[in-house]
Amino acid sequence: MFFLKVLFVFICSVTVLEGATPTEVKCPKEPLIRHAKNDLCSKEEQYIKNKEQFNRNKYREFLESLDVFNFDNSTLDSIVVSTPRLGVAISGGGYRSMLTSLGFLLQMEKWGLYDMVDYISGLSGGSWTLMGLILNDFDPKLTLDKWNFADDLLKGVPEFDITSADIVSGMHSALQKRNSQRDSNFSSFEELMDYLEVVLSSLESTPDMMVFQKRSESPLQKLKQLFFPNDTFSSPHILDTFKNFREILEFYIDLHLDVRPKKVQGFPVTFTDYWGRALINRARKRGLSDENSTSLSTLISSNDRFQKYEAPIPIFVSNCKNGFLKNVIFEFTPFEFGSWEAIGRLFVKLEFLGSRIVAGKAKKCFRNFDDIGFITGTSSSIFNNAIIYMWQKVSQSSHEALRALKVLLSVFGLNGSKVSRTIDEAGLNFKTETDYAVYQHNPFYKYPHKENILTSEDYLYLVDGGEDGENIPLRSILISERNLDVIFMIDSSSDIDNYANGTKLKNIFEQLKEKNVEYRFPSHYITLASSPIIIGCEPVYHNNGELLPILIYYANMQHTYPSNMSTFKVSYEEDEIEGIVNNGRNIFSRDNSNYFRNCLGCILLKRSNITIPLNKASKFCSSCYKNLCYS
Ligand SMILES: *[C@@H]1O[C@H](CO)[C@@H](O)[C@H](O)[C@H]1NC(C)=O
Ligand SMILES: *[C@@H]1O[C@H](CO)[C@@H](O)[C@H](O)[C@H]1NC(C)=O
Ligand SMILES: *[C@@H]1O[C@H](CO)[C@@H](O)[C@H](O)[C@H]1NC(C)=O
Ligand SMILES: *[C@@H]1O[C@H](CO)[C@@H](O)[C@H](O)[C@H]1NC(C)=O
Ligand SMILES: *[C@@H]1O[C@H](CO)[C@@H](O)[C@H](O)[C@H]1NC(C)=O
Ligand SMILES: *[C@@H]1O[C@H](CO)[C@@H](O)[C@H](O)[C@H]1NC(C)=O
Ligand SMILES: *[C@@H]1O[C@H](CO)[C@@H](O)[C@H](O)[C@H]1NC(C)=O
Ligand SMILES: *[C@@H]1O[C@H](CO)[C@@H](O)[C@H](O)[C@H]1NC(C)=O
Repeated sequence: MFFLKVLFVFICSVTVLEGATPTEVKCPKEPLIRHAKNDLCSKEEQYIKNKEQFNRNKYREFLESLDVFNFDNSTLDSIVVSTPRLGVAISGGGYRSMLTSLGFLLQMEKWGLYDMVDYISGLSGGSWTLMGLILNDFDPKLTLDKWNFADDLLKGVPEFDITSADIVSGMHSALQKRNSQRDSNFSSFEELMDYLEVVLSSLESTPDMMVFQKRSESPLQKLKQLFFPNDTFSSPHILDTFKNFREILEFYIDLHLDVRPKKVQGFPVTFTDYWGRALINRARKRGLSDENSTSLSTLISSNDRFQKYEAPIPIFVSNCKNGFLKNVIFEFTPFEFGSWEAIGRLFVKLEFLGSRIVAGKAKKCFRNFDDIGFITGTSSSIFNNAIIYMWQKVSQSSHEALRALKVLLSVFGLNGSKVSRTIDEAGLNFKTETDYAVYQHNPFYKYPHKENILTSEDYLYLVDGGEDGENIPLRSILISERNLDVIFMIDSSSDIDNYANGTKLKNIFEQLKEKNVEYRFPSHYITLASSPIIIGCEPVYHNNGELLPILIYYANMQHTYPSNMSTFKVSYEEDEIEGIVNNGRNIFSRDNSNYFRNCLGCILLKRSNITIPLNKASKFCSSCYKNLCYS
């Protein structure tokens, strides 16, 4: 894995392919920064307004499809005037969360509720769902079909559970670790790499098992330990192993070539950039062609359903770590980037993210910094730890790594003079090596009358949305500005045996309490967890007096499939995909219960301007509220 390290060294290298490159443009006249009072940006407000009629039609169809209500036309006409606003929040949890949530959305779609959704927020694994939807016209089925689950997300990184101790959390600790590595073993590594050169070159010329048998086993043993620590070494597989190795190397070199143009434009590049490219490469089985932009603002402006106001607004959530902040959430929407937290409430137009803006005035403007891979990678930067962890495990001095890379490149016929020269020039210049995504320039730098930790430096450090223990992106869609009526949460956190037990929701409720929002926490939910829990049926209010949304919490649980794969499982077989997706459907529908489906009607009607007539429907709804609502 040492070559991973080197990738970050030859960053200022060869002339190569185009990628999603930030491009300098003329700055527009109008301000790029918005200081939010109690308002959404006008584009978002307009979008929600334009989607309203579509939602009304869908709501009408949904109510008509239920068998407990027989509303006549004029009643329906008056009900849909107050069509409830729906949101969905998708937790972290790697592919487990992505597959579960896609199943969940597919079933919402089947029951006629998906089209009505105004917002979908996602963090970490949940943000992969968002990226998939954006690249596939907000069609959950197409997203599943087009995504490449078969190839490893990151090559050469085996599935493993990262414990919290392994996670590099914070620039400071990462730097300390790096310094302590400086003193690590030299000679055995050098020795090994010399040997590697001989072994690999003879392997290339004579792909014959005899090569290995002639040599002593110990250096090979070392080699094996270095790259494949837990494989049982057996000679019939060694050829495959080296073929894999070549593929691995090429995989990372390709990522590097994609990321490089950003560096050339003068932007700092971190692990997150590599990770973001790796994600984009999996989002399409055939990949995206080079001329296709991967800028979120560009993608959304050519998205068919979004342009027709028939898609939900996606919100990517991440945490800010400037000055070791905690629980300060930043969000990316197709329109803006910023934070609703009291110390922020500043937003930049998304398409101009990356521009140099000082005190709210644009100095130098860029487009295409808002790469969807980079944004998704930021929200799921916990996965950088998979790379960092492996790398730290095996990394020796950078000198040795460089030398080794040269050897390997030549063995693989990749030793063009340019590459070698680059390695020499790059020397030992390492940059940030953590799971931070660096957003430089900070659009809020020196913003007037806002002197705080978010505005004092020209960069923002962002990390995985789940890093502060709030693994469900609820807060972004709970704000009173967005005025939602019902929020569905699908929680695939890993609380116990890689299933969710409500711990993350509890964490959020504790946070909310500090902001004077009090949802009551169901303490006995563990016994209920295979069925959704509905919170807030009895009105709960914001401290500004506005009604809070009803929350419908679903935990990932085994319904029809043991969907508790490790968060860091990086590839899936067809039958696993089908199993988890169907399980996700059953989570949403409570095992395809018609009773539950009708109850959802009752829940939505709570937010419509109607008194349910005193008849069989009213009795039915009372039983739903009694059975499903937590109070
Ligand atoms: C009810 O309204 C729909 C359209 O809103 C119309 O197609 C249908 O014919 C109406 N039915 C009755 C019984 O009026
Ligand atoms: C470090 O090098 C010494 C001397 O070559 C060797 O005995 C020792 O096992 C090496 N340590 C590691 C961790 O490889
Ligand atoms: C390798 O095996 C060791 C000990 O058996 C275990 O602690 C470690 O987690 C394993 N590593 C991987 C990458 O599977
Ligand atoms: C990629 O670009 C081509 C040409 O502009 C366009 O036809 C195609 O729809 C784009 N694909 C995606 C996924 O945006
Ligand atoms: C690459 O390395 C191999 C083996 O060291 C050597 O035979 C070959 O000439 C080198 N190619 C270039 C372009 O330097
Ligand atoms: C959920 O699981 C965690 C262990 O991961 C445990 O500490 C916690 O008490 C559990 N919560 C409930 C409500 O059972
Ligand atoms: C899945 O859950 C079962 C218990 O229901 C547990 O035995 C198993 O270890 C879990 N698997 C993973 C990968 O966590
Ligand atoms: C609710 O409906 C009643 C009549 O059914 C109407 O007078 C009132 O204006 C409606 N309120 C809202 C907020 O639509």
